Amino acid sequence: MSSKVKPIHYRWNGTLLPQYGISSGDIERLYPELLEIRDQVFSRELPLYHAQSGVPEEWQPLDAGFIELPQRLLSEYQSQREASELGRILSVAKRLRDQVDRVVVLGIGGSYMGARAILESCCQPYYNEWSRAERGGRPRIYFEGNNVDNDHSQALLQFLGNGRPAHSVDERWALVVISKSGGTIETAVAFRQFLRALESSLGTEKNRLPEFVIPVTGETGKLASLADALGCKERFPVPDGVGGRFSVFSAVGLLPAALMGVDIVAMLQGAVAMNERFRTQGLGNNPVLDYTAVCHLTEKLRGHHTRIMSVWSKSLEAVGLWYDQLLAESLGKREMGALPLTVVNTRDLHSRAQQHQEGRRDKLITNVVLDSWRYDPLPVGRSDHDQDGLNEIASKSLPELMTAAIAGTNQAYLEDARLTADLHLPAADESSIGQLFQMLMLATVVEGRLLKLNPYGQPGVEKYKVNMKRLLK
Ligand code: PA5
Repeated sequence: MSSKVKPIHYRWNGTLLPQYGISSGDIERLYPELLEIRDQVFSRELPLYHAQSGVPEEWQPLDAGFIELPQRLLSEYQSQREASELGRILSVAKRLRDQVDRVVVLGIGGSYMGARAILESCCQPYYNEWSRAERGGRPRIYFEGNNVDNDHSQALLQFLGNGRPAHSVDERWALVVISKSGGTIETAVAFRQFLRALESSLGTEKNRLPEFVIPVTGETGKLASLADALGCKERFPVPDGVGGRFSVFSAVGLLPAALMGVDIVAMLQGAVAMNERFRTQGLGNNPVLDYTAVCHLTEKLRGHHTRIMSVWSKSLEAVGLWYDQLLAESLGKREMGALPLTVVNTRDLHSRAQQHQEGRRDKLITNVVLDSWRYDPLPVGRSDHDQDGLNEIASKSLPELMTAAIAGTNQAYLEDARLTADLHLPAADESSIGQLFQMLMLATVVEGRLLKLNPYGQPGVEKYKVNMKRLLK
């Protein structure tokens, strides 16, 4: 592991006993199969993926390209600097930072959720609300093209000036449009609508439109053709062999991240470190295998079909939603696959905890816990008005309250023989989030192979699209 990367840690709470759903013996029995799958990923899947044309039908689609992507991008950046993809991403981000105050990122599913997760976890809370100086000159970021919600699109267009000519950096805005296929209707419709507004906001400088439109898309497709027609010179690929929800470490996630000022190199180093742990470490120090073992066995042996990602920071909610999509679209096939659910605590202790504590025994709870906070600890503080009785804990800070809430909740669940596990992140920062994304993507692939499912592709999603198109014509 690179010395700069502080590792994330996964461990289950208490000793694994049959009454919690699974025992240590169950994990040990599964271990050889897990190792076989890990070897298969490196000795069969990756070589097959590289062979491209020779991928047998039963392996298709094989989108294993995400595994090596972080290392490839970093190596290219090291040897080619500005000419590399990372170098180009950083230079477009810098240019737009100097030119515009707002960027609208259009995309849906895997072309949206990773960027939103990065914004919420790696940038300071209320990012868009801070002044330009407080944001370090970085543009505000808005997400659209992820719905066909009339009022939200109209409100954002109005906020952007409804096409009124922009005269200063503070009024100028740009579009990043992301679609691997280039034909997803939500994103395509939004692109048409926002492009119209952007063009008219340029007033007499309409010829500069291509400067303010950055497409991220496949080599071919409708968006690629549109980008050609508009003359967009700066554009980025979604590499072949990297599926939508596995594409956060391509320009799909990295370009918006660079616009927000996120350290994308540190994020990729985190992902590389997780690959290395996955490849070399044994049970107990291999978060991919440890996490997969517990999830798989509690589902298979005890019917824990609901997989709760309980994040103990508001900054991690969108990371949880990113994982919801990853798990649901990858493993929700052939009437299998756990139901993912993100909860944000302590908020949802007041909405869902009752069910987790006393409801059906069909849930595995994985806590995602931050070991450090961006800001100094905020104490409760002493008050002359102690009617609320808080002087008793006046010297305690919010992080201390959080730690007590986590321990208290885990203990309550354990006492009722409900298994929980903790995933500790050193911080909500690039390195930890990079590790976490890669860990969860690898774990999803390993679990898919355990279930004898292809984790790639999402054939079921096509069905609504066909109906919707027919109904619109
Ligand atoms: O994981 C996936 O492949 C999907 O969720 C896609 O990301 C989503 O459907 C958007 O597709 P596209 O990027 O082609 O617009």
